[in-house]
Amino acid sequence: MSDRDVTVCEVGLRDGLQMVNTFFPTDEKLAWIRAEAATGMPQIEVTSFVPPKLVPQFVDAAEVASAALQIPGLSVVGLVPNLKGAQRAVELGVHKLNFVMSVSKTHNLKNVRREREESVADFARIAEMLRELPAERRPILCGGLSTALGCSYEGEIPLDDIRRFAVMLAEAGADELMIADTVGYANPAQVRKAFTAVQADLPNMKLGAHFHDTRGLGLANVTAALEAGVRQFDASLAGLGGCPFAPGATGNIVMEDLCFLLDSMGMRTGVDLERLVEVREIVARNLPDTPMYGGLARAGLPRNYRPLVQRAAA
Ligand code: COA
Ligand code: ZN
Repeated sequence: MSDRDVTVCEVGLRDGLQMVNTFFPTDEKLAWIRAEAATGMPQIEVTSFVPPKLVPQFVDAAEVASAALQIPGLSVVGLVPNLKGAQRAVELGVHKLNFVMSVSKTHNLKNVRREREESVADFARIAEMLRELPAERRPILCGGLSTALGCSYEGEIPLDDIRRFAVMLAEAGADELMIADTVGYANPAQVRKAFTAVQADLPNMKLGAHFHDTRGLGLANVTAALEAGVRQFDASLAGLGGCPFAPGATGNIVMEDLCFLLDSMGMRTGVDLERLVEVREIVARNLPDTPMYGGLARAGLPRNYRPLVQRAAA
């Protein structure tokens, strides 16, 4: 990890594609994954192991994950909502499982049809299943806390609830936690406070942040999370994204802009900014009617801008 200060994870193939009704052809998903991996992207959440009846976009989950696993150096991540999803992912050899539950009681019921405590019990069963695997086959288990910083059903989410469920997932066996602002309600002051509090409760836990740019505060929230010590961020190419079970949800923070932000602040991501912008073409040709966002793609790199790798080498 010494060549990176911050780990970014592309989630457009999951968070983005779960929102679009057109099926993104499997070979085009793979073209996207391969092209983005070639920019130096260290992690890609390539699919979602949910029932295909519920989200037909992910009917090709096994094929996509298996092909992605052939790409050298890429950490292949899959979303799992329950034990069955985790079993499907483990069978393929996926490197990291992103389990998802919501801190909002209502959103958890709508999204995974369970009480939050039942989701924690599901998570514990997944952790137990993983413990029985030989070490070399055991994926990283990330406990995702959705709607942690606001919910379009419930509004504000008490900080004590985030802390409580974070500790419960940690005790149940999480290797990492991902705190998500699923519907873009968070502000930087709140982000700093929430991440600092959870990190204080769980000093040895690796925390990641997943922000949506619904109200334009996404990158401001990233800088607040950086100040709180977070070094793992989700984002999606062109800002695709949203949750089909959360009214008003829109796109994730834009990956290209996140990488530019980090690069310009002197934090190494390992990602080639110019090549990353070129990958948008694959999304554009497959989703001609889907809006694509991004300041870097719109304006280009600043005049005479030298990416961090070049600045460091000079
Ligand atoms: N993958 C494939 N099939 C699955 C599955 C999974 N992860 N989980 C359950 N199933 C199958 C079961 O085997 C069962 O099949 P059957 O009808 O042939 O017997 C059927 O789906 C229903 O199973 P059940 O355990 O009752 O699940 P459910 O209908 O209560 O759904 C979730 C629960 C969690 C699987 C579902 O609500 C879900 O996937 N939610 C996530 C939604 C989402 O993608 N949100 C956006 C991302 S955050
Ligand atoms: Zn999201």
